[in-house]
This record gives sequence, C-alpha cells and structure tokens, in this order.
Amino acid sequence: MGKVIAVYSMKGGVGKSSLAVNLAHGLSVAGHRTLIWDIDAQGAVAFLLGHSYIAGAKAKKIFAKDADAADAIVPTDWPGLDLIAADLSLRHLETDLSEDKPKRLRKLLAALTPDYDRIILDCPPGLGEISDQIFRAADLLVVPVMPAPLALRTLDQVEEHLADVRGKKAPALLPVLSMVDRRKGLHRDTADAHPDWPTIPHASVVEQMGVQQSPLTAFAGKSAAARAFASVVVKVEAALG
Ligand SMILES: Nc1ncnc2c1ncn2[C@@H]1O[C@H](COP(=O)(O)OP(=O)(O)OP(=O)(O)O)[C@@H](O)[C@H]1O
Ligand SMILES: [Mg+2]
Repeated sequence: MGKVIAVYSMKGGVGKSSLAVNLAHGLSVAGHRTLIWDIDAQGAVAFLLGHSYIAGAKAKKIFAKDADAADAIVPTDWPGLDLIAADLSLRHLETDLSEDKPKRLRKLLAALTPDYDRIILDCPPGLGEISDQIFRAADLLVVPVMPAPLALRTLDQVEEHLADVRGKKAPALLPVLSMVDRRKGLHRDTADAHPDWPTIPHASVVEQMGVQQSPLTAFAGKSAAARAFASVVVKVEAALG
C-alpha cells in the first residue's frame, strides 16, 4: 500500500507547491510510482509541470459522491510521475467537504494507494475542514516553515491542533525550513536551532521553475537548492520508515 505525504502549511506562500513538485519528482526518480495531487484551487502544480489550463475542467467533480479520483489522473513528462490537477472549481472545497463528508479525502486516497507507492498532496493554506481531512488521510505531513518567530508560532499552533483532533493517530510531521538566507542572522540562528530540519535556501533558481515549468531537480539538478530538495526526499523516506 502506498504512502500519502501532504505538503501542508497553515500559512500561504511559504514554498509548499515548489516543494511538493520537487519532492514528487525526487521520489519518482528514486523508483517510486508517484502521484502528485493538487487540491489547491490555484492549480500551481499543473502549471509548474507544464500542463496547460483546461477551460471547463472540473476538479471538484472528483470529490462528488461515487466519483473515482483515478479518472482524473494524467501522466506527466517525467516517467513514473502522474498528476491530478486542480482548477478554480475547487475554490469552495472547504465548504463542499464540510457538508457531511468528513472522510471523503481519506476514502478517495485509499482507492489510489494500491496503484502508487507515494502520493503527494499539494494543499491549500489554512486550518479548517480541508486540513482536518488531510490530517485524517496522510501518513506524513511535510510542513515548510519560514525562519521567523511568527512562522514557528504557527507551526506550534498546528501541532497543538493536530494533537487535539487526532491524538495518538496524528500523522508524523516533518518541518522543512523554507527560503533560508544564511546572510541573515535570524535565519542562521533558526536553522542552527533545528539541525534535524531540512533547509531549502532562498534561491532565484527555485523561482525559475515557473519559467521552465519543470521540477528544479530536472533542469538544475546540480544546484544547491536542488540538492536541498533531494535531502528532503531522504528525510521523508526515513520518516516513513
Ligand atoms: N526556496 C525558494 N527560493 C526562492 N523563491 C521561492 C522558494 N520557494 C518558493 N519560492 C517562490 O515563492 C513563491 C511562493 O512559492 P509556492 O507557490 O511554492 O508557495 P505556496 O506555499 O505553495 O503558496 P500558496 O500558499 O499560495 O499555495 C513562488 O513565487 C515561488 O517561486
Ligand atoms: Mg501552493
């Protein structure tokens, strides 16, 4: 049975989608049959993987009663990496899922895990019904955190909430320090205080993913940032045991 890895953060704009794409690519290169499923209406993953926007597509149909998520899977240009794309129809997913479907995401994922070794979820920011469903469905939460006190406080809040709603059944949580600029004292101190957390540097080559429409690990595999993403793959595999 495959493992579900959610790239999640309560905060927006912290590097979730960039990390999700590189993590998924790295896992597929390591030989895992990998699916990346975008559940954020912004649809960043399809864009970053070079898939053009399909007008009229309805990603929300996947969440309808009796729907089969497998029908929405498309291959990508990278062998071993498949995609379920998002679109704006997911903008009401928070309320759609609240309408008495507390285990919908978990059920949809359970139907996919026989066919994939690793399923990466690119999650929307927030802490509500969608994230509660993610906490019920994921084996591991990978949480990008900016090296700043408020971001660390938000991570504490998420951990507190996770313990409240899931108790001992809470998925393991792997924080990843995101957009670290070692020229800044606060960033260096935060990284040094958490030596177990992988660190992704702030690097313009990561922003280039949106221009190249490709995983960084595919077009600049030797860059420091790509090596940092590769170290997250190793940590994720270790966390999954
Ligand atoms: N390590 C990095 N260095 C520099 N820029 C980065 C890095 N990671 C992400 N970015 C840039 O920061 C912006 C936000 O990144 P991304 O979309 O991955 O974040 P997100 O958490 O998924 O955002 P959202 O909450 O809106 O979904 C993008 O423009 C991206 O190119
Ligand atoms: Mg995103």
